[in-house]
Amino acid sequence: MMWIAPAAAVASCRLSCTSLRIISRGSPTPWPWLFSVRCVRRVSSIPGTTPKEVTIEKDKVYKTDEWMNTPSTILSAIPRRLHLQQDHPIAITRQLIESRFPNYKCHNTLFPVVTVEQNFDSLGFPADHIGRSRTDTYYLNKDTVLRTHTSAHQADTFRANESAGYLISADVYRRDAIDRSHYPIFHQMEGAMTWDRDSLDASTSLKQAVWADVAKIPAHSIDVEDASPTSHPERNPLQECHSAEEVEAIAAHLKRSLEDVVVAIFNAASRAAVAAGETPASPDEPLKVRWVEAYFPFTSPSWELEVFWQDDWLEVLGCGIVKQDIMSHAGVPNRLGWAFGLGLERIAMLLYSIPDIRLFWSTDARFLSQFSSAAPIRRFVPFSKYPTCFKDVSFWLRSSSSAAGGLSRNALSPVDFHENDVMEIARDVCGDLVEDVRLVDEFVHPKTGRKSLCYRTNYRSLERTLTNDETNQLHERFRQQLVEKLGVELR
Ligand code: PHE
Repeated sequence: MMWIAPAAAVASCRLSCTSLRIISRGSPTPWPWLFSVRCVRRVSSIPGTTPKEVTIEKDKVYKTDEWMNTPSTILSAIPRRLHLQQDHPIAITRQLIESRFPNYKCHNTLFPVVTVEQNFDSLGFPADHIGRSRTDTYYLNKDTVLRTHTSAHQADTFRANESAGYLISADVYRRDAIDRSHYPIFHQMEGAMTWDRDSLDASTSLKQAVWADVAKIPAHSIDVEDASPTSHPERNPLQECHSAEEVEAIAAHLKRSLEDVVVAIFNAASRAAVAAGETPASPDEPLKVRWVEAYFPFTSPSWELEVFWQDDWLEVLGCGIVKQDIMSHAGVPNRLGWAFGLGLERIAMLLYSIPDIRLFWSTDARFLSQFSSAAPIRRFVPFSKYPTCFKDVSFWLRSSSSAAGGLSRNALSPVDFHENDVMEIARDVCGDLVEDVRLVDEFVHPKTGRKSLCYRTNYRSLERTLTNDETNQLHERFRQQLVEKLGVELR
């Protein structure tokens, strides 16, 4: 999710540029391999035994504390690094985008365990930002998390100052809903370009240097809607240390660079559709994109880019002018520039028409053999659609008014309850055999004040038909774990 934070925007948004989601403005838009892990599985808000330490990839040992909420299932996926796997659709998507930024330095092997300082503080996230909570973020200990976005490496990369432009592609981790476009691990690409005031010759101003670079970006003929002003004093302010003309030039460079990426992606997607004998999404209409104002704690002004795709506006990326504080703290106060972040799964899903995000984790040859970096992009052909089976589970939370509300003392009350804990238990028990989990009913008992919730779980394997027995057993374990870990009372 893209953690949109400002007062007005947040009320409705906890949204993500990182997973496939259709935007409808006006309505709330919400985002075992090589190592040994000595940890017990537990979820965020549940008391339990905390392992003393976890070891990731043989030699990286982290002391844990009461903040630890990362299950072994997540830790065990760290070595997969789908963005580096030859011929994997995530890797091919990365390479396609990288090819549009020829002189940018690519960082593709940055380690996913970062400090809270890197992930949040260095970027100006307020202390009470929702993204910091243990319901949203995987912690190893109070100061250490699995990065929730590639922006966690911004400050360090600016500090290293190795290139004017850079791209970072990496696996990122977030506790989130379960459905066909959300998975707790996904991949992002971050990009940034900066200019150094100090290295300009005396006769060139910064804005002239930037405009000269804008002229080098390939032209396109797509229909771009950009209705808002580049900055707005309240909604999308200029930073004090930047002039309006400088920001105009940098924003033009940013927008043109990213429009070029979008053209490359959507042309490839259209060619794939035509090759598959499909009518492209809009045969008579050219590609349409639009820029909309956004908010991130670490850029100002900020924007999102949306693309009109299959009859709706699809949010593709977030970006903005890097906050000068970040540059100053990184020891490069004279540099200024832009940054963007995009979700690779979302783009790969529309490039290849991949219907379910879990497929990216499949090791089934029927999936993997369909992709090649040497061949043009082709639509994914589903190898089979195995049957789905849904089952409901209903339970009571503790009453918020009585001490125990008839439930055990450690039962969760509605204030402590977080849906992501239910999601994590489902993932933990069912792995990739769960397709989605959705709240289908809730009510408060008029007399006892106790709240009841009903979740519908869809079970489906992407690779085979599940037997009835198997689904029943999974569901029974899911129910029992809800009781054991959340202390709820099954109905
Ligand atoms: N890190 C942001 C996210 O995950 C995206 C972003 C990157 C926005 C860089 C602006 C600049 O949602």
